[in-house]
Amino acid sequence: MPRLRLALVGTGRAAAGLAPFLSQGGAELVAVVGRSQDAVDDLARTASTGGRRPPAAFTFERLPAGLSALPPADGWILAVRDDAIAEVDERLARLSAYAGARWAAHLSGALPAAQLAAARSTGLAVASLHPLASFPPAHAGRGAPRAPVLPPLFVLEGDRAAVADLAAWLGALGARAREVDPDRKPLYHAAASLSANFGLALISLAAELAALAGIPPDEAERALAALAAGAMENASQVGLAPALTGPIRRGDVGTVRRHLEALAGLPPRFREAYATLGREAVRLARRAGAPPEALSAVEAELEKAASAGASATGGPEDARGGGRA
Ligand SMILES: NC(=O)c1ccc[n+]([C@@H]2O[C@H](COP(=O)([O-])OP(=O)(O)OC[C@H]3O[C@@H](n4cnc5c(N)ncnc54)[C@H](OP(=O)(O)O)[C@@H]3O)[C@@H](O)[C@H]2O)c1
Repeated sequence: MPRLRLALVGTGRAAAGLAPFLSQGGAELVAVVGRSQDAVDDLARTASTGGRRPPAAFTFERLPAGLSALPPADGWILAVRDDAIAEVDERLARLSAYAGARWAAHLSGALPAAQLAAARSTGLAVASLHPLASFPPAHAGRGAPRAPVLPPLFVLEGDRAAVADLAAWLGALGARAREVDPDRKPLYHAAASLSANFGLALISLAAELAALAGIPPDEAERALAALAAGAMENASQVGLAPALTGPIRRGDVGTVRRHLEALAGLPPRFREAYATLGREAVRLARRAGAPPEALSAVEAELEKAASAGASATGGPEDARGGGRA
């Protein structure tokens, strides 16, 4: 089978996270395009690991001249922020960049393939390809750069010809892929946001609590992020219910009561988060086979705290401000 020739647009987190895989699985990254020549040159260098020829690197301004010297790409992947997809798609169509290509795809988890209206009007098949991943910022971390990690799932939808090429490439990579109905993509993307983005927001809230207990904020954030990563790693191995630990899983109603008493003196958002997520933990603990009577008692405490939250008039939002609800 001939190599799938790919062109990548964008130089941000998703572009950098995916680039190393775009020359694997029978594909070859032939060009990267962006707004800054330095950024595309950097990305082309990092994408050419393993002794492969680096892809050509162009700004939009240099694109028409650059592409005229290359055989056309089969597929274009637009890794730009959601709000810029339509504009970049139109720009690529205007520059005749799509000439000779079979399809174009964007990486948004919330928008449909149809967002690529300009590509479609030039006769290309269109798709959306969402990697279920939280890619690190460029030059992230304290140690050596991490090896690229293949996202655990890619979610696809769009025109058959584009989806078929992408699914074949993902299959050859050994990646898991699933098609979704475009109307239900926002639900899927809300699930991704809850897990990755709101997961971090939750740890930020937890770190505030730990800081109130006297643990320096920076240390609290790192330690709690590592604790959560450990729990998530367990869950990804054995499933959520078996991975659940803690007082709700054990049915320790006295411990839950002590937590709620401690939170009662703080701004309501702490108790609200605890009561809301605690009730989800009760559902999970039921699935895990925790003692039903103890769980009902825990649930009653959490309901009480939630209704106390609903009737509270509110208070200072920042616990460090020393406010009492
Ligand atoms: N980050 C993730 O973990 C992740 C995961 C799955 C899917 N995605 C999807 O991947 C896509 C890119 O997200 P990202 O996180 O990589 O964003 P990002 O790091 O903010 O990078 C955005 C890229 O879009 C470019 N861009 C923005 N406006 C533009 C415009 N008007 N014209 C041309 N280029 C423009 C930026 O160029 P400059 O550098 O020149 O500003 C940058 O290269 C989004 O659709 C997102 O939903 C992201």
